[in-house]
Amino acid sequence: MKIAVIGGTGKIGGAVAKHLAKSNSVIIGSRDPVKAEGAAKKIDGAVGADYATAAREAEAAVVAVPYSALATLSVLADKLSGKLVISTVNPLKVENGLTLFALERGSAAEELAELLPKSRVATGFNNVPPLLLQRDEVVPMDVMVAADTRETYDEAAKIIGSIPNIRPLYAGPLSQAGLIEALTAVVLNLASLNKTGSLTTRFASRRE
Ligand SMILES: NC(=O)c1ccc[n+]([C@@H]2O[C@H](COP(=O)([O-])OP(=O)(O)OC[C@H]3O[C@@H](n4cnc5c(N)ncnc54)[C@H](OP(=O)(O)O)[C@@H]3O)[C@@H](O)[C@H]2O)c1
Repeated sequence: MKIAVIGGTGKIGGAVAKHLAKSNSVIIGSRDPVKAEGAAKKIDGAVGADYATAAREAEAAVVAVPYSALATLSVLADKLSGKLVISTVNPLKVENGLTLFALERGSAAEELAELLPKSRVATGFNNVPPLLLQRDEVVPMDVMVAADTRETYDEAAKIIGSIPNIRPLYAGPLSQAGLIEALTAVVLNLASLNKTGSLTTRFASRRE
């Protein structure tokens, strides 16, 4: 599958692109196509392009830009029309050393769905620190995917689950995205307050 990673030059976008490129054709999207090509050269199976070209040529996209830049992606609405868009975006802020969810209501993923009204938006990779994706073998983890329909979840799960050791789990409709994004703050605080190093989510059960 041809997947654009919008913000693929960044920390989480680059790490996700690296793993997705093993079984997909990845287009690293950047505001600067030269920067995109530089990042793509480091990943077998990836090419670089500006955001518009990446969005137009891909069959699906991962959005990995800072929350502050989210609104700028509205220009991609036509190019991403009819396509799956996975949002990694967490609106977070730091106050007195604690990481906090920055929105009073809603979520970045729901805002993205409003900006891209003809796309199918799902969450993905929100709680995954790039450090845990750096190695070729990923530590076993669960990635929570909120999406308005089971079909959209299935599409996102196919992409996310193409990375060995990552288990996508359906988290319900996009209205749940704020909880997933806010949980990133909890995970970051757990790691820093307990000096554990990077943490991510994995749910225990008797049926492994
Ligand atoms: N880092 C993490 O631990 C982590 C984990 C999970 C999810 N997330 C979420 O993923 C998103 C990206 O995080 P990140 O840590 O990977 O960020 P980052 O390293 O700062 O990269 C973000 C990329 O977004 C692009 N960008 C587009 N518009 C921008 C703007 N106005 N200002 C700055 N950069 C802009 C930049 O690419 P170009 O300059 O090439 O255009 C940049 O390489 C965030 O929403 C974050 O909440 C982060």
